[in-house]
Amino acid sequence: MSSILNAVVVGVGRMGQHHARNYAKIEGSKLAAVVDFNLEAAEKVAASYGCKAFKTVEDLLASGLKVDCATVAVPTVHHRGVAEKLIPAGVDVLIEKPLGPSVADCQAMVDLAKKHGRILQVGHTERFNPATVAFKKYEVHPKFIEVHRISPMTFRSVDVGVVLDMMIHDLDIVNHLVKSPIAEVRAVGVAVIGKFEDIANARLTFRNGCVANLTASRLALRTERRMRLFSPDMYLSVDYQKKAGSIITKTANEEQLSHVREELAGGRITDLQQLDYTKLVKYEDLKIVDAEPVKAELESFQQCIRTRGAPEVSGEDGLAAVDLAIRVTTCIAEHKWDGFTQF
Ligand SMILES: NC(=O)c1ccc[n+]([C@@H]2O[C@H](COP(=O)([O-])OP(=O)(O)OC[C@H]3O[C@@H](n4cnc5c(N)ncnc54)[C@H](O)[C@@H]3O)[C@@H](O)[C@H]2O)c1
Repeated sequence: MSSILNAVVVGVGRMGQHHARNYAKIEGSKLAAVVDFNLEAAEKVAASYGCKAFKTVEDLLASGLKVDCATVAVPTVHHRGVAEKLIPAGVDVLIEKPLGPSVADCQAMVDLAKKHGRILQVGHTERFNPATVAFKKYEVHPKFIEVHRISPMTFRSVDVGVVLDMMIHDLDIVNHLVKSPIAEVRAVGVAVIGKFEDIANARLTFRNGCVANLTASRLALRTERRMRLFSPDMYLSVDYQKKAGSIITKTANEEQLSHVREELAGGRITDLQQLDYTKLVKYEDLKIVDAEPVKAELESFQQCIRTRGAPEVSGEDGLAAVDLAIRVTTCIAEHKWDGFTQF
């Protein structure tokens, strides 16, 4: 492999254009081509970056152009079809989230990548959000997680419901943090615009006892992307949209806490209102190193291509997130309103 990686973006709609822009500027990679059924759109992007444009993946492969890696940013229902052309041709792939519309599709892509010895990374960009990166250094063992991911309707990604479109980001992060099999899923949701749910809430109980309550809506009047979690030794609040967050830990002030417990037990503190709670815990703003998540994601992908290491967000992670998402949507479909199912 030469030191410069030849990258291709398949699907240069909203998301694919971000990938094309970043491949063109990341050190060590070159945007070699873009592919889109809408050839006019592909040619427009190609003209901006001085690369080739193709209408189909077949045309790209037939051209003989050397391709090391590709982002697949076509609608989710077409991920597998594109992956099944690129992977056997020896291309490492970053497939946008959700990995696929069904567990069977995801499993097929994971198996294919393994069979051909190719890197398969999944575009769970929120893992590369500077706020997520900032809390990585803390040992987080959540007991309860609350997530709100809401935004106005964009009429994009309506080939899937809000669970596979938006909640999937949080299902991946929750899976990643909790690291325990799921014990119970409860969920409700409603379809307002099309045939898939636009608003959903899921309450997940993991076998280790952790509970996660996730709300997603693509019909809100404002945008909010927040996660809050607590455990006996910490409280974490993350704002993905503002790329900010804070963490409160008690361990750093264990001495003061023990002193207070002794004073209480000895009856020397009688009025608890004398205590300043904020002095008994350590409050820190997350130290954010600002970066564009897609750029960080592609740099990480390229590092894996060079080292043949495991991706930060593997095909198995993408599969696990879709598996959980399907359990949520199944639960939504089976939920009875006044004795009847909605869907
Ligand atoms: N990571 C994120 O935060 C994030 C955000 C938005 C979308 N996405 C994901 O990115 C993917 C694309 O979403 P989008 O909003 O950019 O869609 P989009 O509709 O804006 O763009 C998709 C493009 O793919 C082209 N296309 C469709 N099938 C094709 C094929 N087989 N070969 C070549 N071109 C094809 C279309 O012509 C279109 O230009 C989806 O899987 C979506 O879930 C991820």
